[in-house]
Amino acid sequence: MNQKTYIFKINDNNFNEVIECAASIIKKGGTVAFPTETVYGLGADALNSNAVCNIFKAKNRPPDNPLIVHIHSIKSISNVVIDVPDIAFKLMDKFWPGPLAIILNRKNQVPDITTSGLNTVAIRMPNNEIALELIRKSGKPIAAPSANLSGKPSPTEAKHVIADLNGKIDAIIDGGFVNIGLESTIIDLTSRNPTILRPGSIGIEEIMDCIGDVDIGYGLEYDVEKSLKSPGMKYTHYSPDTKMILVEGEHSKVVDKIIFLLSECHKKNTKVGILCIGEYEQYAYAKEIFILGNLDDYKMVARNLFKGMRFLDEKKLDLIIVDGSNCYESIGVAIHNRLKKAADECIQVL
Ligand code: TXA
Ligand code: MG
Repeated sequence: MNQKTYIFKINDNNFNEVIECAASIIKKGGTVAFPTETVYGLGADALNSNAVCNIFKAKNRPPDNPLIVHIHSIKSISNVVIDVPDIAFKLMDKFWPGPLAIILNRKNQVPDITTSGLNTVAIRMPNNEIALELIRKSGKPIAAPSANLSGKPSPTEAKHVIADLNGKIDAIIDGGFVNIGLESTIIDLTSRNPTILRPGSIGIEEIMDCIGDVDIGYGLEYDVEKSLKSPGMKYTHYSPDTKMILVEGEHSKVVDKIIFLLSECHKKNTKVGILCIGEYEQYAYAKEIFILGNLDDYKMVARNLFKGMRFLDEKKLDLIIVDGSNCYESIGVAIHNRLKKAADECIQVL
């Protein structure tokens, strides 16, 4: 596939014009990458099988990994789902527009390819003006996975989308750096108990405050056999091509361990990059350092995580080591979930 990909840099002056143009591409069955508050998405008309097929092709995404359908209003969910329980409306009222995808029973008109043949569909109303206007103007629900090649870190700025998908999709709307940097929290309301399938910036405590107890359906302790409802969870995600080691534990011990690993690598002439949190002067042997943020600002760490992975991956290193210091803010659960999936090896320091 090698086609012309239009890149629209959007600003206040050309906003309406760019949205009109991108919406007409969606209406004609094309593919458009656009920013959301979480990560960039690769969108197409969710009800058009051919259009959705082009998303799978461009990303090289396995066909058994279903897509999230994006809508612009709570009212419009009736075009895609049935049997909506009261707790779904509670969640929508509290968290939409925002980084929460809700799995409900799908309406028949949502094609099999969008849901990978499941009878359920994940829906979400993104908290981003560009995304909302694009959905509204196109008049379609928009299926949109993250706009990266399958298996790569999710894109948090347009240049990441360009690196992965230029020449494979119709257009990219460049709306600058995203706000959150990690994909949405996913909750399944079709299982016996509401079940969180993917942690995100909306924490479990906030969700329980809204609807009561929920089950947890992710993590190493989770039985993969039971997770057939969420096929995407079995794939490795978010990974740089370079080997990556995650060091987890209390911050000062993590730093000591990284210094030790670096000195070992130095002896063997191994080129190492560090994704670090807080101070960095102690990593004198590192070839490259990317600072994710400070220990007291894990929102910043989340925002920079995928950018940092991509940055170091381009540096032709032999190894990336990540500071996985414990974080007690709720977004820490989501950060550690992504890091564990991305890492080739995980070291716990006690
Ligand atoms: O923040 C986000 O959610 C971003 C932006 C673009 O909205 N989208 C995103 O999509 O992260 P994607 O395709 O990269 O991740 C969607 C995940 C996959 O792991 C998929 O398996 C799961 O949602 N999923 C989608 N529909 C599902 C369903 N009906 N049942 C279970 N899991 C589902
Ligand atoms: Mg993805």
